Amino acid sequence: MNYDQTQMPFLESLLQERDRWATSFHMPGHKGTLSLPPLLESLIGDRPFSADIVSINDNIDYLHNPQTTLAQAQQLAAEAYGADHTFFLINGSTVGNIAAVMSTTSDKQAIVMMRSSHRSVYSGVVLSGAMPIYIEPEYHPLIGSPLAARPDVIHELLQKHRNVAAVHITSPNYYGVLSDTAQIASIAHQYEAALLVDEAHGSHLHFHPDLPASATQLGADIIVQSTHKTQGALTQCSMLHVNDGIVNVGRVGQVLAVLQTSSPSSILLASLDASRMQMATEGRAKLDDIIPLAQWARQQIQAIDGLWCYGDDLLGIGGVYAYDPTKLIIRVTDIGYNGYEAYAKLRNEHGIDCEFSDLRQVICSLTIGDNEASITKLVNAFRVLASEKRPLRSQAPEVAPPAGLPTIALSPRDAYYAPSRSIPIEQAIGEVVAENIIPYPPGIPLLVPGEIIEQQHLDYMRYIMREGGKVIGPEDKSIQYVRIITT
Ligand SMILES: Cc1ncc(COP(=O)(O)O)c(C=O)c1O
Repeated sequence: MNYDQTQMPFLESLLQERDRWATSFHMPGHKGTLSLPPLLESLIGDRPFSADIVSINDNIDYLHNPQTTLAQAQQLAAEAYGADHTFFLINGSTVGNIAAVMSTTSDKQAIVMMRSSHRSVYSGVVLSGAMPIYIEPEYHPLIGSPLAARPDVIHELLQKHRNVAAVHITSPNYYGVLSDTAQIASIAHQYEAALLVDEAHGSHLHFHPDLPASATQLGADIIVQSTHKTQGALTQCSMLHVNDGIVNVGRVGQVLAVLQTSSPSSILLASLDASRMQMATEGRAKLDDIIPLAQWARQQIQAIDGLWCYGDDLLGIGGVYAYDPTKLIIRVTDIGYNGYEAYAKLRNEHGIDCEFSDLRQVICSLTIGDNEASITKLVNAFRVLASEKRPLRSQAPEVAPPAGLPTIALSPRDAYYAPSRSIPIEQAIGEVVAENIIPYPPGIPLLVPGEIIEQQHLDYMRYIMREGGKVIGPEDKSIQYVRIITT
């Protein structure tokens, strides 16, 4: 294979096909000719259909049986991101995490995973039937959010539990902190468990030596990346990389064929091809600009009275091995806001959308799409925010996150399929919950199906909602009622 990273074989095949489009009697229904309703046209331009061609002939390669241009595009991606194989995903890292778990575990096998995993990892556990063994989260004393996974804790869990088929970690996590993946990989492999890494927030890592290394290079077996989060791919576009060894790469393809649509959007696939080309050819140079700008912003914000912007001070706490300098975690409680309020203020009064907020901070993600002007605007907005004197908010949350791990009564899968009924949530203490309860963002479940609801879970959930955060998961969107397992 010729790894010429300037090529975009799939995108080029799509352009050719667009220019020769014949009279169509196949999907999609718009046939490439339908005119758009005016509002949609003003949103996405006047010819979006012309490139929305499905794989009906040999010119457009097929995601579930890639033979030509898509096979080449995926090989180019594998080379660019430092893995042995790459699968393009068109349902985000959500489908990547589900596929990673389903490809490596089956019913009643065990999976060691962080309790702070994204909800998609739990969905994978429900679908595969694996029994989770949780790594208890450690919370940063001031950030209040779960941090990294410690290799020694994983080692202990693997010594204690038999039949562990996989270890799943999230690194970097939502806050940009990374675990010691190389050591975790070597421990997992001693026990013949596959290491699955949710690198949804780290698709850019491999492209600059000043960034922490990507898990593709650290011995992980499956690595899932949201190319749409930290690079230029369209929303929904992610990649799943596999390194040879423990994982059956053929099985991963079979699982993805179960989970992904049989009519993949060629535009989404082409955007993955283009995004990889851009990172492989210009990523290093673009990151050369962005990393120092991010460090500059961190120092400027840190110097503003009342604000705290994390950096090297994170290292070593709660297993944190490294951090991604392009993520800014800015604590706002000392200027009188909680994270949700500061987020809203930045959006409504300064035209700045942060990545997300939580009880104590706002988190900003800087990417190759930023420049000096956008980053200066961010820093200046924080200056104004901090200059509006408000009474101090307490640094510690009034209600602490639930202590310890929830008690598991049933596996997530058994609970998911068990009969259930809806009851008022305040009557649910001591019951086994049948649905997820998830503060969002960032989407770390407070409770998952099969766990016992305790007073501390309700207290924390209510506290988050009172402070302006959202809670999702239950069928009843007002969260007055929750489904519990009926015995
Ligand atoms: C850690 C983590 N993993 C997985 C996902 C799911 O990614 P996607 O939005 O690409 O489906 C997210 C989304 O926010 C995430 O934060």
